[in-house]
Amino acid sequence: MPETVVLVHNYQRPEVQLLADHLGDSLELAMRAREVEADRIVMCGVDFMAEVVKILNPDREVVVPDPRAMCGMALRLRAEDLREFRREHPDAAVVAYVNTTAEVKAEADVMCTSANAVEVVSRLPEDEVIFVPDNNLAAWVAANVEDKEIIPFPERGCCPVHHAITLSDLRGLASRYPDADVLVHPECPPEVCRAADYVGSTSQIYEYCRERGPDRIIMGTEEGLGFRIERELGVEVIVPGHAVCPDMKVTTGEKVERVLEGRVPRALLVELDRDVMRDAEETVEEMFRITG
Ligand code: 13P
Ligand code: SF4
Repeated sequence: MPETVVLVHNYQRPEVQLLADHLGDSLELAMRAREVEADRIVMCGVDFMAEVVKILNPDREVVVPDPRAMCGMALRLRAEDLREFRREHPDAAVVAYVNTTAEVKAEADVMCTSANAVEVVSRLPEDEVIFVPDNNLAAWVAANVEDKEIIPFPERGCCPVHHAITLSDLRGLASRYPDADVLVHPECPPEVCRAADYVGSTSQIYEYCRERGPDRIIMGTEEGLGFRIERELGVEVIVPGHAVCPDMKVTTGEKVERVLEGRVPRALLVELDRDVMRDAEETVEEMFRITG
């Protein structure tokens, strides 16, 4: 049996989180993927995360327990549409959020995640930045990087799960639980981010709880992260609305166990075009270079 490492995103089902060698946000998982020495990497999350692992490990076997786990926001942007749009803005840098396909990353100049989007954009020499595909994260970046013009693309690009978290949901819970800190993900709408005590990636929300130790939080992101925070930190987590990403729940403990037993049909292997991988790798590595 090949030596195997299991990478798991913070939104995964509890039973999958418990099988993780490394549990984290998109940035931490990409960093882990760069250091892997095992022959086989099992990525429990959604397609773009597995693609990043493959881009960073073109000669290793990258396995997804269920290939139907796909990020709806990432799938909506096609590389050819970005290529055409960028022609209209020849002086702009193109920043691709990690939640994009490998083909879109190959078209972009640099990748970012929610944990470092503000840092990546603020370090670019260009004054104009095309930011794809999340308009809400683009607005969060624009609010925090004052000296650049941020051009969001495509129109209405957003995560359906985070975009559905409303200010009135948040206010309702905040008046019921006035002692709770309000922490949200930057994929939430701008008015929700403005009303929060803290805005950060999934692992940054976890770190806030670890460092500050609140008794209770109102958490504006996918509910899966709540399991980790409650289990590891003993913080009570209240989630507004119905913040469940169905794609993140496609992977089950049973499917991961099957892979760990060595049952890996070809359909579970991540395969990408070599040229796309090479160009996308430059975009991913540029993020690591810029952020040091
Ligand atoms: P993080 O990078 O914060 O873990 O977020 C990934 C994601 O898909 C958010 O919806
Ligand atoms: Fe994509 Fe939204 Fe699901 Fe994250 S929560 S994987 S952005 S659909």
